[in-house]
Amino acid sequence: MKKTFFPCLVAIFHFVVCAGQKLSTVRQTKSIDQKVDSVLRLMTLDEKIGQMNQYNGDWDATGPITKDGDKQNQIRKGMLGSMLNVTGVEHTRTLQELAMQARLKIPLLFGQDIIHGYRTIFPIPLAEACSWDTAAIRLSARIAATEAAAAGVHWTFAPMVDIARDPRWGRVMEGAGEDAFLGSVIAAARVKGFQGAGFGNVDALMACAKHFAGYGAAIGGRDYNSVDMSERTLLEIYLPPFRAAVDAGAATLMNSFNDLNGIPATANKHLQRDILKGQWKFNGFVVSDWGSIGEMINHGFAKNNYEAALEAVTAGSDMDMESRSYISNLSKLVKEGKVKMQLIDDAVRRILRKKFEMGLFDDPFRFCNKEREQQQWNKSDNLKAEKVVAEKSIVLLKNDPVAGTNGMGLLPLSKQTKAIALIGPFMKAVRDNIGFWSYSWPDDSSRIVTQFQGIQSKVGSNTKLLYAKGCDVNDSSTIGFAEAIDAARQADVVIMSVGEASDWSGEAKSRSNLHLPGMQEELVKLIHALGKPVVVLINSGRPLVFNWTADHVPAILYTWWLGTEAGDAIADVLFGDYNPSGKLPISFPRTEGQIPIYYNYFHTGRPATSDSDRFYRSAYIDLSIYPKFPFGFGLSYTTFAYGDIQLSNNTMRANQSIKATITVTNTGNYEGEETVQLYIQDLVGSVVRPVKELKGFEKIFLTKGQSKQVTFTIDVGKLKFYNAELKYVAEPGEFKIYIGTSSQNVKEVAFTLTQ
Ligand code: NOJ
Repeated sequence: MKKTFFPCLVAIFHFVVCAGQKLSTVRQTKSIDQKVDSVLRLMTLDEKIGQMNQYNGDWDATGPITKDGDKQNQIRKGMLGSMLNVTGVEHTRTLQELAMQARLKIPLLFGQDIIHGYRTIFPIPLAEACSWDTAAIRLSARIAATEAAAAGVHWTFAPMVDIARDPRWGRVMEGAGEDAFLGSVIAAARVKGFQGAGFGNVDALMACAKHFAGYGAAIGGRDYNSVDMSERTLLEIYLPPFRAAVDAGAATLMNSFNDLNGIPATANKHLQRDILKGQWKFNGFVVSDWGSIGEMINHGFAKNNYEAALEAVTAGSDMDMESRSYISNLSKLVKEGKVKMQLIDDAVRRILRKKFEMGLFDDPFRFCNKEREQQQWNKSDNLKAEKVVAEKSIVLLKNDPVAGTNGMGLLPLSKQTKAIALIGPFMKAVRDNIGFWSYSWPDDSSRIVTQFQGIQSKVGSNTKLLYAKGCDVNDSSTIGFAEAIDAARQADVVIMSVGEASDWSGEAKSRSNLHLPGMQEELVKLIHALGKPVVVLINSGRPLVFNWTADHVPAILYTWWLGTEAGDAIADVLFGDYNPSGKLPISFPRTEGQIPIYYNYFHTGRPATSDSDRFYRSAYIDLSIYPKFPFGFGLSYTTFAYGDIQLSNNTMRANQSIKATITVTNTGNYEGEETVQLYIQDLVGSVVRPVKELKGFEKIFLTKGQSKQVTFTIDVGKLKFYNAELKYVAEPGEFKIYIGTSSQNVKEVAFTLTQ
């Protein structure tokens, strides 16, 4: 079966491009572009349009389904270029075999949302971003790709690189947070992880940077909502991670549901043709988001699918995901002269190029290897890697001393503790450790280490564990409280696991209320009132609001949704086998009314500089000016002292660079990892500049008492911004450099950029 497509393709190539030559020679010597052209020349208009068409596979739906025809017949007729949500060697092989019955035998591409793992589920992307560890993030993507590619998948709709400054938006969980610099570094790491050593390898997935563009700025944090932003904000904040993904070689981009300043992203020429394919010279293809071409009718931007198809293809959307606008209208549009053949050819060329690069023309079944699929099913190395990434994703938000800890933080706990009460709806939860966007996860609870199990296997048999759920996630009942109080009373320490359910963040999961749902915070209050030391674990896909807990409970770990090995990773941190090192990639608001809140805001003409500075200042009269937890923040069991910043020179010319060096010392009682953060501020600009912007970071590991010097090189590239004419420039003048442990806790020094 495997090679049945060859004779026809051989004949085609032979006939069209290489009369007199053997195809094998041609395959070796022709460039991919020549091969693409040779196939393109054979294609009818309908076959070309077929390549621009993508259907859902019906096994799993990640959007509303339009059923209007027999997909299998369309595949046989060469009317389909790609399918999504088809996985598994068996399924993909069956459908690819249908594609091999088509006249030209052009292989299908199988895509899926492999967002944070395939079989081994890794922490949600926002959690992984807390690691600020590009090697770990890349490894996570690599493992996801290896497992998915072994199951017949060619293409992941990831990474999501949307900047998100609004935690009401459910999709904050899928990205790397609020910052363009951190988001760009992580975008590149994820693309490289998914795409591995390059196409042609059977463990390389095509990446898809999404959603192009501005989707994270949906007004009010309401999913699918409009986006209204200045071109400068678009260029400086929202586009850099896409640029980084493209520069890292991302094969594809997905556009987005939102309109951007009135033009739906799907029909946005400025984004897709001018910036992406023009300025950035992107040579991959753009897939629409699910149904987003057809949804332009709902936007009131197109009267019908015919107009929607015209707008989308003109603007550079190459493949139509599930709206069927292209397959039903493009042929007519071309015949009527409204869409030029070059536009169709350009889109098809881009799609075919990727199919060639992936080696699918050489062997459409190369990702369909049953043995490889089995081998990847349950790899212990992948699970080990997952635990490491999960540990790095945990953020220690608070660790105050309690009676008996001699002035030290409550954490880490002793493994010899006599009795520990484990309370809360997430303590024995299974699915909730996995998080949203894990459709490929086999619904198999034996593959998850629950928090209870992790803690149980960490402590010795002399430790008594007392469990009580206390309440459900969104309970209005307090019926379980008595049992929880009883368990806590018998314990020396209480660990409570609270948060939002795993399907409360993700697509279409916007929330207006970010508090701990149900009666959970009431339960925390009651348990805390018993006077026992309490540790709270917070499970979530977004920053939540939990002020009472934050102000009263001595120890808090933000554990997000950590994946397959969640329980073991959490136990390692609780009991000191791993010293937490995570840093927040997004600001945590004090209340929903403080949103959007982000560290790199502009100074106003009346800035508030502290909470006592409110008189006719830009502040709320009833709220602190600070977030509850700032961007870049995260504690460790040890402490780090920062020396003063030494500058190699306090003036710099545009063609020079200077070095900023700082000494960091581990002054505490544990070895540990610190993320040293570099921020820069342009003090006076021709347009208003942010109070600080992240421009670099370095992770260092320090043993007890050890000091290390960290040096950042500052060149003009780190000082540039888009001026009033939207030119990317650095302006001479004074700058401040801040280096520290979070965006709010930094040392500073000034220097001058001269002409
Ligand atoms: C809609 C989502 O917005 C997108 O991110 C996803 O890749 C597609 N559905 C396919 O599931």
